[in-house]
Amino acid sequence: AFMSENTLTVLSPAQNAVPETDSPLVLALPKGRILKAAAPLLHRAGIVPGPDFNDEKSRLLRFGTNDPGIDVVRVRSFDVATFVAFGGAQIGICGADVLMEFDYPEIYAPLDLGIGGCRISIARPRDRTGHEDNPKRLSQVRVATKYPSLTRRHFAARGINASIVHLHGAMELAPVLDLSHLIVDLVDTGSTLRANGLEETQTIAHITSRLIVNRTALKTQPERITAIINRFRTALASGT
Ligand code: PRP
Ligand code: MG
Repeated sequence: AFMSENTLTVLSPAQNAVPETDSPLVLALPKGRILKAAAPLLHRAGIVPGPDFNDEKSRLLRFGTNDPGIDVVRVRSFDVATFVAFGGAQIGICGADVLMEFDYPEIYAPLDLGIGGCRISIARPRDRTGHEDNPKRLSQVRVATKYPSLTRRHFAARGINASIVHLHGAMELAPVLDLSHLIVDLVDTGSTLRANGLEETQTIAHITSRLIVNRTALKTQPERITAIINRFRTALASGT
C-alpha cells in the first residue's frame, strides 16, 4: 500500500537497531555453567523460557518465555557481550571477564548478579620459577589466553610487551607443551591448574556475572528496559 507522507518515519541507524516496542526484547544468556547458576535468578525475576529451552536435543537458539515481551537466546559467553553491544539483544547476562576483554562502550552493566564467582589469574608451571624475577626474560614473555586484549593491557601497564598466544580453551596445556611461559585464565577451585602442574602467581581481577544492557536500547525504550532491570534487582534482593 502507498504510504502517505505523515505516516512515514525515518529511522536513524541507531534507532533502527532497536526493535519496535511491540516486538519482544531479546535477553542473551550464556550457555554452560553460568546458565545453570542463572536459572533460579531468572525464575525469581519471573522469566520462564519455553519447554524447548531445556531440551538438550533441540537445535533452536531463540526461545519464547512466559512473558510475551521477552525472548531469550542462548549463545557463547563471549558472544553475549557482542550481541548486546550490537543491539541484536537488548539485555544479557555476561561475565565481568568478557566485559573487561571487549570494553564495549555500547554496554551498560547496572547489576552485579553475584553468580559465576571466580578470578582471572596468571599462572605458570609449578617447577619453572624465575620469570617474575628476571626482567630480561619477562620482556619477552609469551602468554596463552582466551583474553588477548585484557592480557596485553595488563602486561603493558607493567612495561612488559607480552606475546599473546590466542587459544579458546585448554590454556593449561600451553606451558606444558611449550607454547607459552604463562597463561591468563579463569580460576575457580584451582583444580584445573593443579591437575596440569600449574600454580597461580597473580590475581588480575575478581569476576562475577553482570546484567548488561545496550545503552541505545535503554535510551529509546527506557520503561521496558528499566522494568526488566528492576525485576532482576528485586530477584537479587529476594534470593538467599
Ligand atoms: C574454566 C577455566 C579453567 C577452569 C577453572 O574452563 O578456563 O580452565 O574452568 O576452574 P577450576 O579452577 O575450578 O578448575 P572450562 O571448564 O569452563 O572450559 P574451557 O576453558 O574449555 O572454556
Ligand atoms: Mg578452561
